Amino acid sequence: MNQENHLQNRVIIDKEVSWDKTQVIMSKTNAFGIIEYANEVFVDVCGYEDYELMGQPHNIIRHPDMPKVIFKVLWENLKNGKNFHAIVKNLAKSGRYYWVITDFEIARDENDVIVNYFGRRQAVPQEVIAMHIEPLYKKLLQIEAASGVEFSEKYLIGFLEEKKRTYVEYIKELIYEHEKSQSKFANYNEEEDAGEEEEHRGFFGRLFGR
Ligand SMILES: Cc1cc2nc3c(=O)[nH]c(=O)nc-3n(C[C@H](O)[C@H](O)[C@H](O)COP(=O)(O)O)c2cc1C
Repeated sequence: MNQENHLQNRVIIDKEVSWDKTQVIMSKTNAFGIIEYANEVFVDVCGYEDYELMGQPHNIIRHPDMPKVIFKVLWENLKNGKNFHAIVKNLAKSGRYYWVITDFEIARDENDVIVNYFGRRQAVPQEVIAMHIEPLYKKLLQIEAASGVEFSEKYLIGFLEEKKRTYVEYIKELIYEHEKSQSKFANYNEEEDAGEEEEHRGFFGRLFGR
């Protein structure tokens, strides 16, 4: 089943899936993004049965509101063996949506060839989505429709250059500022991340409970 086929037959409902946002959604794919395992949380949230997910490409839950450029950057990182934290809107079987932030682990064989990806996903604060991510993704999608992914990528690069951030640094800051305003992360010390700044292991490690 390719992406076009599954989207053609899909109803899109502008309502969020209700799910327990303290839970971590997990799936494992092969090197090509074909699903080999899904945890119970994933099955519950996306509404597909295990047998409907196994052997399918992970784009079975791709939402049409997602700009292609985000997945382009995500896969460039994964194929290079790098973790990537993306904010993604997903499409449940019911047609409802749910937003997540990603975290990956990459497994290699004895010849150092990537064999599996483990994707962990968590909920994202609604305010971060509504105030920052939805407006950005809407713009990227409009650019893609008008001029293609080449230009949505150029726009994204310009947007991040202006902020002097990478994509991951930008979303880290959005979530961190939100958590701070909610007085969570009260004992989170940014300085702890010093030495680890490039991978953001400190912040995201804490976020994903690693
Ligand atoms: C482990 C893993 C988890 C993924 N999780 C998601 C996800 O939750 N939602 C999603 O739309 N794409 C996810 N992807 C990316 C998809 O493989 C795919 O690139 C994306 O849905 C866009 O579809 P397309 O590449 O056919 O354009 C994941 C990929 C991997 C390797």
